[in-house]
Amino acid sequence: IPVESGFPQPTLHTGVAHDVYENYTSIWTRADAKQIKAISNPKVAVGQNSLPASLTMPAIPTDFPVTNDQVWIWDTWPLTDAAGNQYSYNGWEVIFCLTFSRNTGLGFDERHTHAKIGYFYRRAGVAASQRPANGGWIYGGLVFPEGASAAVFAGQDYTQNAQWSGSMRMFKANSNQISAFYTDMAFDVSDGLYNTPIPKGSNIKPPQAIITKADGQIHSDNTHVWFTGFDKHVPLLKPDGVYYQTGEQNQYFSFRDPYTFTDPAHPGQTFMVFAGNSSGVRGETPCDASDLGYRPGDKYAETVDEVNGSGAIFQRANIGLAVATKADLSEWKFLPPLISANCVNDQLERPQMSIQGGIYYLMTISHRTTFAAGMDGPDGEYAYVGQGIRSDFIPLNSGSGLLMANPTDLNTAAGADYDPNPEQNPNAFQSYSHYYMPNGLVTSFIDAIGTKRGGSFAPTIQIKLHGVWSELNTAYGTNGLGPYGDLPPNRFILDRQAA
Ligand code: FRU
Repeated sequence: IPVESGFPQPTLHTGVAHDVYENYTSIWTRADAKQIKAISNPKVAVGQNSLPASLTMPAIPTDFPVTNDQVWIWDTWPLTDAAGNQYSYNGWEVIFCLTFSRNTGLGFDERHTHAKIGYFYRRAGVAASQRPANGGWIYGGLVFPEGASAAVFAGQDYTQNAQWSGSMRMFKANSNQISAFYTDMAFDVSDGLYNTPIPKGSNIKPPQAIITKADGQIHSDNTHVWFTGFDKHVPLLKPDGVYYQTGEQNQYFSFRDPYTFTDPAHPGQTFMVFAGNSSGVRGETPCDASDLGYRPGDKYAETVDEVNGSGAIFQRANIGLAVATKADLSEWKFLPPLISANCVNDQLERPQMSIQGGIYYLMTISHRTTFAAGMDGPDGEYAYVGQGIRSDFIPLNSGSGLLMANPTDLNTAAGADYDPNPEQNPNAFQSYSHYYMPNGLVTSFIDAIGTKRGGSFAPTIQIKLHGVWSELNTAYGTNGLGPYGDLPPNRFILDRQAA
């Protein structure tokens, strides 16, 4: 990938593993993330894609098929084991999505405070060419019984309970026992009427985010898939304000998206990565030279004072780590974050750890609009590689961290998904919430193409990982775009009880 001149050198990272319990956090530095702009072409015509084709998801057509006409869908995950393998159940593919009814009169951007985990299923073993263009997913309804996730906040004042992302784990090859790990949210938001003078939509108090577990059972017959259980929701983790920022420190804090995994190097232990923010009061916690990461004598280096004076201190994302302290995964303890992006970006969402033959890939998703002052990068997926769960992670692709971008003109202002800049590439917000699957397949949802909103599955793509660099597989699907909403299982469960 050609690198433009006029940019600093990326920080030197070794990729070397640290003890998973060590108080060491790798840093995605400003010097690293500046490489995104350094690999972006400054000369493309306005509204074209300035990013390398090998790191860009091809443009999704505007006439994409609608996944479901009752509900919008966004963040999606399959049924997985501790190594990220994906399972079909008795001949059914089953997936889980954040959903929100299309028919309430509220818009797609109001979905977050109403999100509920729903599920979809379809017959396994059918070639994509034999399925409808939208993937043919059948909406099964919500996964949890009414009120079960809200019970975690019993006795407290809040206006909405929402269920945010997570993962669905199975444990034994021939069992219908599964566990949901997700983010139980309670919002206390003004309706602008009874809570005046607090303006409509503002927080009366900061939201609560609790990483929560619920156990249930999956069932199927020849016609459909359904669930029982998921009635007892066990709160696992709330931010501690020491490693992970609390709502009191920052009402816009992130604390969500649990993804559990095991590591061949740590037999018998289960870990969880999640999206967090570095602790400290918002706007009052400066960055230091390690967050900037410039090499000595780099003539393009910024000073710590410049950065702290620029407003960049408002952005403090991290990727958190926790370890289960009970075998049934009902109790967990925080470990120091794996990576921080202080003064770089505010959100590293839906992290995943993919361990491939002793190489540890840490993946996450982020937005153009959550980059700190002086930084820029597209909406898409980001990745870091190291030799252990906790490593001095090397950001992929010229040290930038960019794994897969939407087609974006980084020379032109972004606008927002709900209000795109007409000069910007119409596909700059085409998809989000990428989820990395076996064989390098990546699913995501359509957010906005031009002014048309999505809430449907994006085409699946395939990324080839080569250690410190990666590329889109253009031989997959049509010029790199595969079937819409394809999350193919690579394992199956046959449960005698259901036969
Ligand atoms: C990503 C995300 C997740 C969160 C959910 C809320 O699209 O922001 O981090 O769990 O959406 O809707």
